[in-house]
Amino acid sequence: MKIVFIGGGAMGEAMVRCLLTKKVASPQDIVVSDISPVRRELLSREYGVSTLDDNRKAVTSADLIILAVKPQNLPEVMEKIKGLAPEQLVLSIVAGATLSSLCQGLNHSSVIRAMPNMPAQIGEGMTIWTATTETERKQKELAQTVLRALGKEIYVTEEKYLDMATALSGSGPAYVFLFIEALVDAGVHIGLPRNVAQELVIQTILGSAFTVEKTGKHPADLRNMVTSPGGTTTEALLQLEKGRFRSLLLKAVAAAYKKAKRL
Ligand SMILES: NC(=O)c1ccc[n+]([C@@H]2O[C@H](COP(=O)([O-])OP(=O)(O)OC[C@H]3O[C@@H](n4cnc5c(N)ncnc54)[C@H](OP(=O)(O)O)[C@@H]3O)[C@@H](O)[C@H]2O)c1
Repeated sequence: MKIVFIGGGAMGEAMVRCLLTKKVASPQDIVVSDISPVRRELLSREYGVSTLDDNRKAVTSADLIILAVKPQNLPEVMEKIKGLAPEQLVLSIVAGATLSSLCQGLNHSSVIRAMPNMPAQIGEGMTIWTATTETERKQKELAQTVLRALGKEIYVTEEKYLDMATALSGSGPAYVFLFIEALVDAGVHIGLPRNVAQELVIQTILGSAFTVEKTGKHPADLRNMVTSPGGTTTEALLQLEKGRFRSLLLKAVAAAYKKAKRL
């Protein structure tokens, strides 16, 4: 199997690392084409993969071509590599690039569009993906194996869900990082040493997320279990409700979705 990356930046590197760590591919299976000599040198030194600065040459005889350049570089890349064989599969992680624009730009029909998120950099990502109807079952299985190496993946038949997921899981890590930062600051404000506050917050968030996942209970039921009548938690929740915490989150995600649709 030959996997070719067009773009070996932050996400390209993360994908290479995950593919190798999870033993989905070996360095001999991977070629990275990137215009940056610095990136090429780093990727071949760190991961032992082949590198090139010629996108056209790189895609020759590739089974899977992963497009991992910034949206503004996509048109030039598509122009260079178009004329692929029908059995070659293209997987794009380029934000905002729709299946129809990819198919049109590449004059190719076996195309997958995926939206990973930043924790993919440590193999804990959440990726949502879709494929053209022309993409064969075996090709989808290959894409799924590759995306699983980045963390969890979910396949949807409706492409519109990718823009929605961009606002939820794509931008989501930024909301969670802000929440973590604010909660740690709150701990410091009431007198905890910063390192202690940070450890308490991180494990509280991890533990709570795992509890929702493992018990399958509704988050409101779990919240009620932590909220004793007349206790401390209800005092804090009152302040969050007064500050319109939920509706603020809803508005934030809706604003990100509106922007994602315009990309
Ligand atoms: N970062 C994330 O968390 C994330 C999450 C989901 C999706 N994505 C998507 O993933 C894509 C890549 O993002 P990134 O953060 O990895 O970007 P990045 O770090 O800028 O990586 C892109 C790489 O492609 C190189 N490049 C530019 N033009 C090229 C060309 N014509 N041929 C070959 N290589 C070229 C760039 O070199 P130069 O730097 O020299 O231009 C850079 O090394 C984006 O479309 C983004 O929307 C990213």
